[in-house]
Amino acid sequence: MKKVHVETWGCQMNVADSEKMLSLLHGMDYALTENESEADLFLLNTCHIREKAKHKVLSRLGVLRDLKEKRPGVQIAVAGCVAQAEGAKLLKAAPQIDILLGPGKIEELPDLLSRSTGNGSAVMALGFNKPGEEKKRAHGQDVVPPTLTGKNEVTRFVNITQGCNNFCTFCIVPFTRGREISRKPDEILDECRLLLANGASEIMLLGQNVNSYGLDLLDSRKLSAGEDGPFVELLRQVVTLPGLKRLRFTTSNPHDFTQPLAQLFADDSRMGKYMHLPVQSGNDHVLEVMRRKVTVAEYRERIRWLRDAVPDMAISTDLIVGFPGETEAEFEDTLKLVEEVQYSFIFAFKYSPRKGTAAARMPGQISEAVMDERLARLNALQDSITMRQAEADCGTIQNVLFLYRSKKNPGVFYGRTEHFRLVKVESSGQLVGDCLPVLITGGNKTALIGIVVGDPEHQGSNHEHETGDSVQH
Ligand code: SAH
Ligand code: SF4
Ligand code: F3S
Repeated sequence: MKKVHVETWGCQMNVADSEKMLSLLHGMDYALTENESEADLFLLNTCHIREKAKHKVLSRLGVLRDLKEKRPGVQIAVAGCVAQAEGAKLLKAAPQIDILLGPGKIEELPDLLSRSTGNGSAVMALGFNKPGEEKKRAHGQDVVPPTLTGKNEVTRFVNITQGCNNFCTFCIVPFTRGREISRKPDEILDECRLLLANGASEIMLLGQNVNSYGLDLLDSRKLSAGEDGPFVELLRQVVTLPGLKRLRFTTSNPHDFTQPLAQLFADDSRMGKYMHLPVQSGNDHVLEVMRRKVTVAEYRERIRWLRDAVPDMAISTDLIVGFPGETEAEFEDTLKLVEEVQYSFIFAFKYSPRKGTAAARMPGQISEAVMDERLARLNALQDSITMRQAEADCGTIQNVLFLYRSKKNPGVFYGRTEHFRLVKVESSGQLVGDCLPVLITGGNKTALIGIVVGDPEHQGSNHEHETGDSVQH
């Protein structure tokens, strides 16, 4: 049996794609190894979202070039968004690559492997399937047998759409993932059922803009206000699947976010009380130039829908500092929005020009020093907000879904509250996969600390699949 070493960068879609590739490799008699020295194949699943992400790939390829000189039989496959964006150019910079595979062509990995000679002439599959071709894919092709990873993972990712049609002016994703294509609801439900039957407790539905899921499957793209729409209909079906303890989804674009979606959080406690709603900036002019298609007032309205439905709804966001032309006053509007919304977390990034995107050609590119300074102010503000929230959580009892055990200390477990706060708990039991009440005793901006209420040696099971078992909301 051959061995593959998989390295994944970027977003959850890449994590899901790596699992899919691993599943295909398993069908070719490859086993996963964490040990680089025994790997026959290195599979790098790459991210192109910011320049730093791309540099990580290039420096890793440098290390693998040296390794390949010492062990000539080793093969190197580069998949993901850098492969798609750079294409043959990447082969010039890194001729040690044997296989180049875009995120739209994952199913071609076995064919490429069988054609690859491993001696200098790369084989590649790039580009995107047309919608028809995508739908023709064998049913179940997207299903990764859960036992494959060798881990009984509590959270499993399920792709519901590929690609993005939005073309925000800063973003490379539409170029690396192609146009938006939705999977059929039946396929998604079957995959969720399979994962739940194999020990998953939490399902995370994935897409670059999950809120527009299924609009391409409708005859007309227009939904009337207040109508559920295909995404909400899908959520209603997934959330009631037997065995599911929590349903999450990412990423939501505020443009397609609807009031029925907000209401769903109030209707079913398995939806949790947390969602990620990227805004990027708190200033209307910046949002317009970013082509986000919503105003700050419209974004606020969506926050209001959520908090009207669930008053203690936890919300996180993505923010970009130093978008071309961003003035100090415009940046301060972002600080104001962060203070006003009281996010639970923010993911703040310095703007990174991506070749081929509209923003990369805009005047007024901001210096690194100014971006550093803005990023530090933004993160400091959020840190103080998160600390205040952690203090307020002390003494409360939270429902925690336990996700994993510490690798260093087997008596330490980590889970997430309904508000998606990380909680650390010590126990001599087996908590992974269980949803239990936890008394919060302390915490900082990274994690809360707590103790399981009741029996501290709770012997949980990952295989309780009756609905309404230990979930108490
Ligand atoms: N589809 C998601 C975003 C996916 S990319 C959405 O629309 O919300 C994840 C995040 O990376 C974005 O929300 C944005 O904050 C950041 N990002 C994307 N392109 C970037 C760039 N060129 N420079 C800096 N940050 C960027
Ligand atoms: Fe990028 Fe915008 Fe699409 Fe998100 S919605 S992936 S930011 S183009
Ligand atoms: Fe990166 Fe591609 Fe995801 S660019 S963020 S891996 S869609």
